[in-house]
Amino acid sequence: MPRPATPPMSEPAPAVIPLPGPDDTDRLGAALAPVLRPGDCLLLEGALGAGKTALARAVIRALTHPAEEVPSPSFTLVQCYDGATGPVWHVDLYRLSDPAEIAELGLADAFATAICLIEWPDRLGRERPARHLLIRLDDAGEGRVATLAPAGPGWQAALAAARAAARGAAR
Ligand SMILES: Nc1ncnc2c1ncn2[C@@H]1O[C@H](COP(=O)(O)OP(=O)(O)OP(=O)(O)O)[C@@H](O)[C@H]1O
Ligand SMILES: [Mg+2]
Repeated sequence: MPRPATPPMSEPAPAVIPLPGPDDTDRLGAALAPVLRPGDCLLLEGALGAGKTALARAVIRALTHPAEEVPSPSFTLVQCYDGATGPVWHVDLYRLSDPAEIAELGLADAFATAICLIEWPDRLGRERPARHLLIRLDDAGEGRVATLAPAGPGWQAALAAARAAARGAAR
């Protein structure tokens, strides 16, 4: 009798996190930060002004210092920080003119060695890391809603932290 085929690995269900105001975006970032490790990559999707930089700033401040200045990397493309657990790369690819620049930026190394927070990840093309946490920010009334969709193993703690932050805010 042939053995049944191994079922395909299924990803955990996405977490849908309401973010009624900017404080909730900060809370989500602060909740995610402690469970992130070098090699983890957050892909931050959403329209112009969705709050991608705001979420990245909250993560970075939780990993560095609450008063850390975190400018949008929209012109520099990359800003690097010394985080509590290693390097943190904040990347905004909106102005990327040529996918070849991705190699010049050193992103492939950073994906292996840093915590990476990537705005406009659609620009990554084939450089998009297979294992990532996709965080999509959408408008919801005056606020936003974040949908966290994991790809690859090891995102349970991040999903749990995000859900716990949302429950804490609702209390
Ligand atoms: N949950 C929220 N509800 C309402 N406003 C929010 C929320 N989170 C963040 N904001 C606000 O959204 C605005 C835009 O944020 P931000 O600059 O982070 O957007 P962005 O997605 O990085 O835009 P860009 O694509 O231009 O880089 C900021 O004024 C921020 O305070
Ligand atoms: Mg931004």
